[in-house]
Amino acid sequence: MSLFGLGGTTPHERVTLVTDEKSGLRAIIAIHSTARGPAFGGCRYWSYGSDLAAMEDALRLSRGMSLKNAMADLPFGGGKAVIMRGDRQHERKAMYQAFGRAVQALAGSYITGEDVGTSVADMLSVREVTPYAAGIPRANGFGGNPSPKTALGVFAAIERGALHVFGARQLKGLRVAVQGLGAVGWALAERLDRAGCKLVVADIEATRTAAASRAFDATVVAVDDIAAQDVDILAPCALGATLDRHSIPALRARLVAGAANNQLATDADGDALHQRGIAYLPDYLVNAGGIISCVREYEGGFAESDVDAEVLRIADRVESLFVRARDTAEPLSRAADRWALEKLAGVS
Ligand code: NAI
Repeated sequence: MSLFGLGGTTPHERVTLVTDEKSGLRAIIAIHSTARGPAFGGCRYWSYGSDLAAMEDALRLSRGMSLKNAMADLPFGGGKAVIMRGDRQHERKAMYQAFGRAVQALAGSYITGEDVGTSVADMLSVREVTPYAAGIPRANGFGGNPSPKTALGVFAAIERGALHVFGARQLKGLRVAVQGLGAVGWALAERLDRAGCKLVVADIEATRTAAASRAFDATVVAVDDIAAQDVDILAPCALGATLDRHSIPALRARLVAGAANNQLATDADGDALHQRGIAYLPDYLVNAGGIISCVREYEGGFAESDVDAEVLRIADRVESLFVRARDTAEPLSRAADRWALEKLAGVS
């Protein structure tokens, strides 16, 4: 099997394997594109079934960052890192510092931040050895955890999507299934609850669903059942590839919008959603709030109200996407891909 082409049809500029014997670090840093600027994207800490699975994740996630940063009109390219969680218990600070030294060695062509499994405290460890890191705790004068900004953007996208799909001027009374109650999913659930939505939730961590049941009067269902719930909206906020040929036929939601990266298992799954009359708002469009926050922090002079205003512009892009897709009679996912690739190529 060839490694080249593993990450999809658009090639990557550079992929770096990193090991550090002392801390046990095993990581992959994938730079998909620096066409718009240095590659910017978070670092995932995760248990992978194999090195190949980790490589595929890094390649897919970094390509997604190119599309996300282009779509959000950020002057950065796409990159992503994964740290492979192994059997050996890592000393986190040493491991993230070793990772930070690898980022430093790339001399600014890759800038890192949080992703699943990596905390603001971890990013502070990285920042101690390289300036090419964002999502540093606010106490240190930075922008802090980007997840609330991601949730803000997803919420704004859901509001605009609901206006198009249901003609709903407000979300009150709509039923929303939130898949994954982590940093983003929980913050999104809080916003949806405040807006008067009825929540159905699932997470592999029972403590999180129990907390959501208490805090939002949410209905708790099994992780395998969440996608097929009788709801208006599905918000995937766990891991990727949850929208596939098995889950899509069972969906009852008419709008899908959530934070998880790479929700579509394949491009054809975007077509399948369209054929079923389900509006799918592409992940890289709606979940850009976190990277917007990290980019503005990295550039210096983080101003919360400016960041919020920029994140809320995600809703305008959702609006434009509906118009584009209608004009070209394409699925939303195809129209978004074409738009993002045009931006990546400097066309629009
Ligand atoms: P997190 O690690 O805080 O939360 C993920 C949650 O999903 C956890 O509560 C976990 O227990 C749960 N989970 C895992 N597998 C599950 C399953 N099969 N079914 C239901 N729940 C499951 O991660 P975070 O930061 O909330 O990110 C969520 C997703 O959004 C990820 O795909 C991430 O890449 C993406 N994302 C996050 C951003 C951020 O600012 N944190 C920015 C852009 C994308």
